[in-house]
Amino acid sequence: MPNLYVSTHPLVAHKLTILRSKDTEPKKFRELVGELAGLLAYEATSDLVIKPVRVQTPLKETDGYQLVHKIGLIPILRAGLGMVEGVWNFMPSAEVWHIGIYRDEKTLKPVQYYNKLPIEPTVSVCLILDPMLATGGSAVATVDILKQWGVKRIKFVGLIGAPEGIAHLQNSHPDVPIHLAAVDERLNENGYILPGLGDAGDRQFGTA
Ligand code: PRP
Ligand code: URA
Repeated sequence: MPNLYVSTHPLVAHKLTILRSKDTEPKKFRELVGELAGLLAYEATSDLVIKPVRVQTPLKETDGYQLVHKIGLIPILRAGLGMVEGVWNFMPSAEVWHIGIYRDEKTLKPVQYYNKLPIEPTVSVCLILDPMLATGGSAVATVDILKQWGVKRIKFVGLIGAPEGIAHLQNSHPDVPIHLAAVDERLNENGYILPGLGDAGDRQFGTA
């Protein structure tokens, strides 16, 4: 599938397996979400543009590099919140802009309830953070919002994707690369990913 990157890193496979387990408690679950998010964001940012700069070490001036673009992290509330810290560890100067979207339980359509983006875009590359890409409705709505905001370069960083959600995002926004830890089998009749990990928000926040 074009523009789909599924991590093959052994650490990712190991941590995702513990995350999936129904016996993993919220504290451990939150830690793993953060760690996996950091690993995936590291892979997702391997093509960021850098420019040469000079740097003075304690001993001598030498060549170095600096990131060209300003990065924005866009967690989709709630479940995307748990991914922020893990990614921020690698890019502490990234701006974080929250988008609140939940899925209507009956229609599975995304419902937006929070967006305080300023009028003008303040970043040039956005990483959308959300553990689950199920029907793809929430991700597509978020990309719509970011494109309307004026951001040209957008990447989706998630943990588990269903084929249905991946196809929806790719068809709606073929220019948005999708970075995942795994692609699962399918959605069940309630729109949950199989085998998945259950409800990512509930498992992080202990609200199941
Ligand atoms: C979950 C998840 C995604 C969405 C994915 O959020 O975090 O945002 O579902 O489903 P989709 O691809 O079909 O849109 P949820 O609606 O459960 O809200 P929550 O994070 O606040 O619990
Ligand atoms: N949201 C979740 O948290 N889990 C799923 O399997 C699907 C949507």
